[in-house]
Amino acid sequence: MDEKILPRHIGIIMDGNGRWAKKRLLPRTAGHVQGAKAFRKCLRHCIDLGIECVTFYAFSTENWKRPKEEVNAIMKLFSDYLDEGLDMEEDDVVMRFIGDTAPLDDALREKIGRITADTAGNHGTVCNIAVNYGGRDDILHAVKGLIKAGSDPDTLTEESISGNLYTAGLPDVDLIIRPSGEQRISNFLIWQAAYAEYVFMDVLWPDFSEKDLDGAIEEYSRRNRRFGGI
Ligand code: IPE
Ligand code: IPE
Ligand code: MG
Repeated sequence: MDEKILPRHIGIIMDGNGRWAKKRLLPRTAGHVQGAKAFRKCLRHCIDLGIECVTFYAFSTENWKRPKEEVNAIMKLFSDYLDEGLDMEEDDVVMRFIGDTAPLDDALREKIGRITADTAGNHGTVCNIAVNYGGRDDILHAVKGLIKAGSDPDTLTEESISGNLYTAGLPDVDLIIRPSGEQRISNFLIWQAAYAEYVFMDVLWPDFSEKDLDGAIEEYSRRNRRFGGI
């Protein structure tokens, strides 16, 4: 693929796990297990393609509405992933976590802190995992931070807000991919995706393959981005 048209930052809404399981008469949690496998495969492919930054939507600020057993199963999968991880050193991946981690349990937060610190000095693909993430919460958190730091409202800029989001220092999102057939943003990266290209796909997340990612990137490369110009 032509490197010039690769998106710098891809956002992926990992949706459709429940429906994948339902189709197979399995419990929803089986869909999440399979979804976690699709996530590993997709991250690997992003690394192989040399994508600068990818953000995976794993758990939203709204997902707490789900039954406790399902929430616990998702957190457990997340925790297992952090135990096992990729070969971060070999892959040179920078792991970051975006969202409010305060409500997560201590053991999980400790793992998040450790993996963030261990990979901070790497130089390859930046992988953000969005956990207890909401775009509105992200903006609110940034504004609160600015006010607490004594920012003068008259000198506030879009850059100062961007620089206080969980994604501070990363490029805006170029491409948002949503599998599962839903065509909405569901409170993902709403500020960062102001000029993103959207690719909605009918595949359910657990079935999402390398080919699907290639297809979305190809579709992206055919888009004519104007950013308000002509
Ligand atoms: C995405 O799959 C996983 C999370 C939101 C945590 P869903 O669980 O939303 O799957 P569907 O949309 O019910 O099929
Ligand atoms: C979005 O999926 C959140 C994640 C994939 C983590 P949802 O399944 O929660 O979104 P809605 O409820 O269909 O908008
Ligand atoms: Mg869903």
